[in-house]
Amino acid sequence: MEAPSRNLALDLVRVTEAAALASARWLGRGDKESGDQAAVDAMRKTFSSLDIDGTVVIGEGEKDDAPMLYNGERVGSGRGLKVDVAVDPVEGTRLLAFGRPNAISVLGVAPAGSMFRPGPSFYMKKLVVPTAAMGVVDLEAPVAENLRKIGKAVGKDVDDLTVFVLDKPRHERLIAEIRAAGARIQLHTDGDVAGSLMAIDPKNNVDVMMGTGGTPEGVLSAIAIRIMGGQMYARLDPQSYDERNALSDFGYDLRHTFTVEDLVKSEDLYFAASGISGGTFLGGVRYTGLGATTYSLSMRGKTGTVRWIEASHKWDTLMQFSSVKYD
Ligand code: FBP
Repeated sequence: MEAPSRNLALDLVRVTEAAALASARWLGRGDKESGDQAAVDAMRKTFSSLDIDGTVVIGEGEKDDAPMLYNGERVGSGRGLKVDVAVDPVEGTRLLAFGRPNAISVLGVAPAGSMFRPGPSFYMKKLVVPTAAMGVVDLEAPVAENLRKIGKAVGKDVDDLTVFVLDKPRHERLIAEIRAAGARIQLHTDGDVAGSLMAIDPKNNVDVMMGTGGTPEGVLSAIAIRIMGGQMYARLDPQSYDERNALSDFGYDLRHTFTVEDLVKSEDLYFAASGISGGTFLGGVRYTGLGATTYSLSMRGKTGTVRWIEASHKWDTLMQFSSVKYD
């Protein structure tokens, strides 16, 4: 029998734990830049201990604006697997800065060349459904029709369904349509990676995620959805003339509906996330005086194993081994 190969997901969860431990110090302090910077520093340092030859494909932005974890940056020791890396050290920087729920640290890894490159695309329209509702919806169909089909597929009346929606002015009509259809809504100011994962997690109250959010966040969500099951239907959805023009110069088709298989073209995937502020998706960092507790998710595509990890960290022993100073 073939020996199981190394599970990188277990190493990667140390990276999101480090970012969460570092950034959660900034909870509610109204300073989103410092919270993000703490997570970026911790994530980058912890990455360097991993034997991968990684290239950041989804990162903090272009090199000129982002000094670390920028798109194209090489991460890892340079030995081992050649991989594409998607990171969001703090997904929901405003959630963290204003002490709101569900800020998380998140990353995904896939074989080199297999992740969709967002290029000039900032926004994507998304519809995320659990496994039972795969194949029954159409991104362009009326909201009421999709909700009726999802309800039928998951065995619930429409008025039992809970839809995660980002609370943005662009969603005024979407929210009105969901209300008219009779479904319940969870409105969140930010954080549609957590929203997408809540929609496919059977333990969560959310049944479906609808609306337009970040394209990089869409790729990160796609990695997790390919592993956990469920589907995301998505279409590039530019929110300005500049973005629309840049996409057409880039040759992207604005009518194409992507699935998670288009956004990440491999099953050999790894994904990790750790809670920062805490909420209904993942518990947040709990500082205990001499240490801290973190709550994370670690998963691997080849085996489909999904681990929910509660870790307790002790500052004194941690400092002897870790390159990261958490506080
Ligand atoms: P940041 O962590 O970069 O602030 O992103 C938070 C977020 O809410 C994402 O979850 C979402 O995809 C995107 O921003 C939506 O963008 P916008 O706030 O511009 O509508």
